[in-house]
Amino acid sequence: MTLILTANPAFQRLALDELDQLIAALPRGEAVSPARPLANGVWLVEDAPFWDVGERWRKQSPIFVHHICPVQVTVPFTALPALQQAVAAELLGYFDATQPFSVQTRVLDDGPVKPYEVNNGLAEMIAAATQSPLNVRQPEQILSVIIAGGIAYLGVSWVEHNLSNWAGGVHRFARREGQISRAEFKLLEALAVFKITLPEGGRALDLGAAPGGWTAVLHQKGFIVMAIDPAELHPSLKKVVGIQHRRLTAETYLETISLPASPLAPFAIIVNDMRQDVRDSARMMVSYRPYLAEAGLALMTFKLPEQNPLALVEQGLAILRQAYRVAGVRQLFHNRHEVMVYLRPE
Ligand SMILES: C[S@@+](CC[C@H](N)C(=O)[O-])C[C@H]1O[C@@H](n2cnc3c(N)ncnc32)[C@H](O)[C@@H]1O
Repeated sequence: MTLILTANPAFQRLALDELDQLIAALPRGEAVSPARPLANGVWLVEDAPFWDVGERWRKQSPIFVHHICPVQVTVPFTALPALQQAVAAELLGYFDATQPFSVQTRVLDDGPVKPYEVNNGLAEMIAAATQSPLNVRQPEQILSVIIAGGIAYLGVSWVEHNLSNWAGGVHRFARREGQISRAEFKLLEALAVFKITLPEGGRALDLGAAPGGWTAVLHQKGFIVMAIDPAELHPSLKKVVGIQHRRLTAETYLETISLPASPLAPFAIIVNDMRQDVRDSARMMVSYRPYLAEAGLALMTFKLPEQNPLALVEQGLAILRQAYRVAGVRQLFHNRHEVMVYLRPE
């Protein structure tokens, strides 16, 4: 079967390597056809065992691939009726009438049609023909439509096999009123992607907190936040009850709290978005481990260099494993040249 893989363009080569390695390790050990780009970061891979790949990645996610979907039908894109005919003729049998579905369309060409027009036009027809309930927010099965180079690629899959509930992994959040930085989306996306249920309140430690997007999110979620950064926080966070800021480096703050005279209740959550060498930042997290509650969790970004980023990811994870269980590593849609790491006490 053909599949379409999506990744951040800066990491697309690593994403394709992840696919190659997974397929080579499958019992059949199939060779993969060379991938063909449909757009920057979007690749068509022929003769790939989509179901095996989706099932493996459902259990253990890759780091760099954002999204995959199958292609069961390919038709020249002229107008919506051509797609409706193709779906009616070839894809209705893939739908489970008892499960909610959604249509997710990406148009990679310049404007032949709007994605929502395709979504609406196909969803209406599928709902009428299969009796499957349409549920755009929480679908179980997805018809993915990608229009590129005048061709429409269509495929039906369980959302669990797509690596993301969002078309192409493009995870959207509404802007919060008074939002401080786009970095907030990174934290929100990490909570969603790693399916994290936050502890109900308690103390949070934010290392590298300025200008304060993550601090604001954690505060909003009910935590008392200790924000550590030599730089200033956004003025709107000053004098907020429940947010304290120490204008220190994480290294200096650690010295102050590790004095015997300053016993400290453990933090329910530690986050770290410091712009720092991955290994130094990972070592810092190891040093902070005694201050994380046993039922707590930690999230950190690895800021990656252009050269050989994978080696650095592996070195960073090896350091973290001295003190934590690595519960997830993903290059998120809202990450720039970085990956998000989710840690639990061992
Ligand atoms: C990407 S910004 C953090 C953005 C923040 N998460 C937000 O949501 O607004 C990185 C921050 O790391 C801080 N930083 C770098 N090295 C640090 C260190 N050793 N200790 C504390 N903060 C550090 C920088 O001052 C900078 O404000």
